[in-house]
Amino acid sequence: MIVRAVHISKYFSIEGGVFKRETGLVRALEDVSFSVEEFSTLGIVGESGSGKTTLAKILVQLMAPTKGVVEFDGSKISNFRKDMQIVFQNPYASLDPKMRIKDTLYEPLLIHRLAMPKQLRDKARELLDAVGINEDALGRFPAEFSGGQRQRICIARALATQPKCIILDEPISSLDLTIQLKLLDLLLRLKERFKLTYLFISHNLNVIKYMADSVLVLQGGRIVEQGDMRAIFAHPSHPYTESLLRSARR
Ligand SMILES: Nc1ncnc2c1ncn2[C@@H]1O[C@H](COP(=O)(O)OP(=O)(O)OP(=O)(O)O)[C@@H](O)[C@H]1O
Ligand SMILES: [Mg+2]
Repeated sequence: MIVRAVHISKYFSIEGGVFKRETGLVRALEDVSFSVEEFSTLGIVGESGSGKTTLAKILVQLMAPTKGVVEFDGSKISNFRKDMQIVFQNPYASLDPKMRIKDTLYEPLLIHRLAMPKQLRDKARELLDAVGINEDALGRFPAEFSGGQRQRICIARALATQPKCIILDEPISSLDLTIQLKLLDLLLRLKERFKLTYLFISHNLNVIKYMADSVLVLQGGRIVEQGDMRAIFAHPSHPYTESLLRSARR
């Protein structure tokens, strides 16, 4: 077991009115618990607003939960920034437009002291090679790349820290269909090569079926179903999962 979420809840307060008094609470996550086996892929599905990205941000410590804890490799959260990386949906927003690709890749290598200055270029080249991007990219800026190429660069940056686990938050949703499949296959190859564990977020059950070993279904911030992917596909127990399956078969 590599990642464990224990009774995670996340509430956002909404301020309103002239005096900005607290007027409401969004229960983005309510008592979410699950664990992920090492080297497996957990698919996380759910409609828009069901709490998927909130959960991803809590898992990588970009956001603190209101209640509950995240454990990684058996210990409570400490410094697992390096071991757990995240790739977001929009590769246009997640690369700094003013940073050359080499600096984007050097940054995590330097922060986590994974390379001496004179090794940086070779390491960055290896990372690009792993995701199928030519080393010419090193001196270029994000604007010179397509969405699919940018997403590959984001994946290379995630790989830079030699993580054990990568959270992929709808990593292909913004891309063309033909590019989507290539990227999924790249992710599967990288998983084998670097012995990775994935948490793969998608609202597309067909994609989850292609990628995941087990699945967790979120609805309104709660887990309504979780377990082995095949079993759930064969016998969904919750009406919401059934409706997801029906729309995936269309
Ligand atoms: N920073 C925030 N402040 C207030 N409410 C928030 C914040 N972030 C998320 N929410 C709310 O929490 C709920 C869950 O949002 P979240 O982004 O996690 O959903 P999601 O499943 O990732 O949706 P999508 O499929 O559209 O990406 C939504 O109701 C959202 O409006
Ligand atoms: Mg989201």
